[in-house]
Amino acid sequence: VFDTEIPRPPKRLPLVGDVLGMSLETPVQNSMAIHKALGPVFERTAFGRRFVFVCSGELTAELSDEKRFAKHLAPGVEALRAIGGDGLFTAFNEEPNWRRAHELLMPAFTQQAMRRYHATMLDVTAQLVAHWDRTARSGGDVDIAADMTKLTLETIGRSGFSYSFEPFERAARHPFVEAMVGGLSFSQRSMLRTVPVVGRFLFPAAKRQYDLDRAHMRDVVDAVIHSRRDAPGPAPDDLLELMLRAAREDDPNKLDEINIRNQVLTFLVAGHETTSGALSFALYYLMRDPQAYARARAEVEEIWGDGEPAFEQIAKLRYARRVLDEALRLWPTAPAYAREARVDTTLAGRYRMRAGDWVLVLLPAVHRDPAVWGDDADEFDPDRFLPERVRARPAHVYKPFGTGERACIGRQFALHEATLVLGTLLRRYDLAMDPAYRLKVAERLTLMPEGLHARVSLRS
Ligand code: HEM
Repeated sequence: VFDTEIPRPPKRLPLVGDVLGMSLETPVQNSMAIHKALGPVFERTAFGRRFVFVCSGELTAELSDEKRFAKHLAPGVEALRAIGGDGLFTAFNEEPNWRRAHELLMPAFTQQAMRRYHATMLDVTAQLVAHWDRTARSGGDVDIAADMTKLTLETIGRSGFSYSFEPFERAARHPFVEAMVGGLSFSQRSMLRTVPVVGRFLFPAAKRQYDLDRAHMRDVVDAVIHSRRDAPGPAPDDLLELMLRAAREDDPNKLDEINIRNQVLTFLVAGHETTSGALSFALYYLMRDPQAYARARAEVEEIWGDGEPAFEQIAKLRYARRVLDEALRLWPTAPAYAREARVDTTLAGRYRMRAGDWVLVLLPAVHRDPAVWGDDADEFDPDRFLPERVRARPAHVYKPFGTGERACIGRQFALHEATLVLGTLLRRYDLAMDPAYRLKVAERLTLMPEGLHARVSLRS
């Protein structure tokens, strides 16, 4: 436990902690506001737990030192083990399956490996385009976050496991998606279970539904795995096949059946909402900034021309990529990660941490640290990511994909997909949001612009 005095919000109640400053719906934005008042390190207590927040670039860089610090499963992530078990994202550092799965799956996530998902990504994007074309012709508008989420879930479903959720054909959500959304939101609320009064309200009907949701998710995944095992003929070259082949061929990094299921669930969960949020925020900022929109579109036209982009042409959209980087700076869609001390150490020469003590890195605050980003840190400016400006900044102050060995395995996947989709949409449509729209950020597991609709018109 830290024995240094750490600022905390003034109002404390014995049980619920700083509940008066705590919004259950928007804990991240709430903590950003507290940070403004209390500075780069502060603590708050909620539901019987103490959370220490870190909000500066300098401390984030220090916490990136892998010799002194490692990933910690914060309570919100640990609660997800009920769904992802010892899958990559929710595994404890010392669980042997983490290293096996990491070694086995890393080669499938290099930049060059994206070549094998490119055709699928194009195909799913074409489905979105068909849907938006219909909307454009009927003069309607689209729900940006909902459509981006359909797209990204379909992309990971098909690239990873050759499974389609048929997102644009269905009127209602796919039952798996229904179960996943329900299961995830329950597991997050389950953090409240330490508070007996709130817990009573959540149980038992919600718990029964939760168990049903989890069972349904498992059944769907098991059915995908079994039907693959039984299918005659050559198997598709996807993540599932990679894991099943390792098991068949007795690879040193082979994973057991339960762990393969955990990895499939992990990729479906970790692999879609974060990317769809990134795309949604990028589209929001572009709609608000016609010059940036025009510049991004001009680049797509110059580099892609009229046709379908080849694999190599995606990473050439340098400006579109800067737009995504900047959107993820302002609203890192996975908004926090936790770091624990590997050894007894002192953070910032001041905060003593015993081995195992942990802090939360609050990314939207870190990414707006004026000491790193200047006084206009709240403004959208993709050119912050011009190579010479990146070089001029200290290392380890921009961390939307986490840090170190446990950083995001899907980073290249997300960036390839998001750049491809962004380029496709900007080239094809004029998008306009209601000028009265004010950004409202919803917090679930991830951050997402709420209520963002756009009128789509096909360019003449
Ligand atoms: C881990 C962010 C897309 C799969 C992480 C972490 C962050 C992150 C911050 C580290 C969490 C921690 O330290 O506790 C993002 C963002 C994305 C994105 C912002 C999109 C813009 C993806 C995609 C996939 C994916 C597309 C899969 C295809 C994973 C996995 C881990 C992870 C499996 C755990 C890695 C490990 O511990 O070995 N992600 N992610 N993510 N992400 Fe992503």
